[in-house]
Amino acid sequence: MAKKSSSGGGFGKLFLGFLLGIVAVALGLFAYLKFGPLPVAVADAPLPFEKQIVRLPLDARIERESKAAPFGISEDVFESGAHIYRAQCASCHGTPGRDVAFAKTMFPTAPQLWKKHKTSDVVGVSDDEPGETYWKVANGIRLSGMPSYKHVLSDTQMWQVSLLLKNADKDLPGPVTQILDSPTP
Ligand code: HEC
Repeated sequence: MAKKSSSGGGFGKLFLGFLLGIVAVALGLFAYLKFGPLPVAVADAPLPFEKQIVRLPLDARIERESKAAPFGISEDVFESGAHIYRAQCASCHGTPGRDVAFAKTMFPTAPQLWKKHKTSDVVGVSDDEPGETYWKVANGIRLSGMPSYKHVLSDTQMWQVSLLLKNADKDLPGPVTQILDSPTP
């Protein structure tokens, strides 16, 4: 009998210790969030592994869900894509030869989708499959300024703009560049 009650007490103490441990961790976390030197301003240094932690699951998810474009490219597709781009995307991502001043002061920055990367000859996202760009346009990218367009654009429109961006490194037909260059509607 005595043995039984002592083992019950042991378990109770263990449980209490476990609970106190959880409370201590929660308090510590709260204190860190409230008083710790966490990066909150755009110019603050990123958290350790912040980029990797955000990128890895995003890339894995896109790989699982990526689809093939339901139609091919043509001048019509590019023109429609350019109208959509001008109206919905240019304000953050710029147009050929024109940058957006605040794009670089966003965190993460909004990449210029018509420029060569700093470290390679790749222009914008022309090295990505259209399915990957389509996924980003449809679903947006969390904890970034990149919006989700699935309730703003039709499926066809999201593919048109994705196919246009796939070809951002090519010489596009005159009317397409004109649309991209036109003043915001
Ligand atoms: C309010 C600003 C804003 C608008 C408007 C916007 N984006 Fe973005 N976009 C961003 C930001 C910021 C990122 C960077 C996200 C990141 O690095 O995780 C981004 C990322 C992307 C990427 C991924 C770039 C890469 O290198 O992988 C693509 C593709 C993209 N946007 C396409 C579009 C298209 C197409 C539109 C219009 C239909 C659009 N965006 C509208 C802010 C914007």
